[in-house]
Amino acid sequence: MFNNRIKIKSLLQSKVTGQEVIVMGWVRTFRNNQFIALNDGSTNNNLQVVVELGLLEDAYLKRITTGASLKVKGIVVASLGKGQSIEVKATLVEILGDSDAEKYPLQPKKHSLEFLREIAHLRFRTNTFGSVFRVRHALAFAVHQFFNEKGFVYLHTPIITASDAEGAGEMFRVTTLPIDGTAPKNEDGSINFKEDFFGKSTNLTVSGQLEGELGAMAFSEIYTFGPTFRAENSNTARHLAEFWMIEPEMAFHDIEDNMNLAEEFIKYLIQYVMNHNRDDIEFLSQRLADEEKQLPQDKRSELGLIEKLEFVLNNAFERITYTDAINILLESNHYKKKKFQYDVKWGIDLQSEHERYLVEKHFKKPVIVTGYPAAIKAFYMRMNDDGKTVAAMDILAPGIGEIVGGSQREERLEKLEARMKDMHSPAAEMSWYLDTRRFGSVPHAGFGLGFERMVQFVTGMTNIRDVIAFARTPKNCEF
Ligand code: 4AD
Ligand code: MG
Repeated sequence: MFNNRIKIKSLLQSKVTGQEVIVMGWVRTFRNNQFIALNDGSTNNNLQVVVELGLLEDAYLKRITTGASLKVKGIVVASLGKGQSIEVKATLVEILGDSDAEKYPLQPKKHSLEFLREIAHLRFRTNTFGSVFRVRHALAFAVHQFFNEKGFVYLHTPIITASDAEGAGEMFRVTTLPIDGTAPKNEDGSINFKEDFFGKSTNLTVSGQLEGELGAMAFSEIYTFGPTFRAENSNTARHLAEFWMIEPEMAFHDIEDNMNLAEEFIKYLIQYVMNHNRDDIEFLSQRLADEEKQLPQDKRSELGLIEKLEFVLNNAFERITYTDAINILLESNHYKKKKFQYDVKWGIDLQSEHERYLVEKHFKKPVIVTGYPAAIKAFYMRMNDDGKTVAAMDILAPGIGEIVGGSQREERLEKLEARMKDMHSPAAEMSWYLDTRRFGSVPHAGFGLGFERMVQFVTGMTNIRDVIAFARTPKNCEF
């Protein structure tokens, strides 16, 4: 058996001196031919390994370089140095894998996030990305724990589908037909998808919601948590072509129940990380504070990361209607001084500058906006009695903008059919979806939380490319 080691995090926590241990990891730094800072990814805190004079030959010592991997056996002793209470006095150091110091791209200094994105295969070995991805893991775990505690069924909805759940048409096609012009054609010259792998035109899913609704009509409450794909050509710090989404769907819930659940969920996730990833959050909070020191005063956040998370935990989200939101924007000095790039009037889709004004300048906390104009929202949202707005809800978060999108669903068959007709949704192909409204329809609601945006919010990372392992964005699909 090879793996008889103790993880560095457990060792640093246990602090028991006098015991013999085996540790393994990667060299962060090697000072004075004597002090190795060893890291195994369990924590940002390195273990100091002391190599006493004469233990290793010079040629072997030279191979202990940044990035090299080691197996170390030694005795745990109290540390005299600063920054750690224990260290390991090595009795054996075995190099598992060399790392050519001249060629290793990660030097023991601060690298820019842009540079690290280019070497995303190695960036997990930095403190920043160590923290980000441990927090991402914890959040994913907490998602399942939250819904499991509530008795929701985790439903795996398909990745390949033939429907456009959002009706926005921003889909990646899935096909096995040739792309060299020899694909079978219909008489009118269009491609004959009957000859394609699935016998119809298919794409990668943009959302698992529609299938989720089918599950909710039997289990009462389900959630999905999987990858979703959007071929929108948005090169921003909050858009990915492949992102992960959590979509709960609940029978017997109206829009207010939906808002309550979403708010409780977000707070639960934050609380989980505050309890379980304190070191990482403290590190990220400090990182953000250092980063912001370089910004002009008015661009800096008023609250540090930890303060911001605590503030969100301890305060109710603001709840306003879309109409209120438009009025607030119209009455703002920002609008009067023509500082918005996009015009504001009832009926517009809120732009990210509008959303950010509402959460960052006006309310200074997360805001839930409800009652959007029907014309700018998806076909499945429930029509309000005014005949103009739908029971939609978006949650807007400081620094992020839209983090959740959801709604109460239209459970009335005729109204849904009318709306699908208006919006040119292919009702014939969606007969399976309409069956939920034919056989035992109930009021129901659900929402989608963009997982990467949530990770951004909790870690304070400003670019979404830095919270997913290998980002897929327009013109970029490395690794
Ligand atoms: O608002 P969206 O498009 O809603 C839906 O897909 C619904 N079917 C959800 C539901 O009701 N079950 O997307 C939901 C969330 C957004 O609020 C945002 O956080 C995230 O998904 N999102 C993206 N995240 C990263 N990159 C993109 N391109 C995203 N598009 C949406
Ligand atoms: Mg949305």
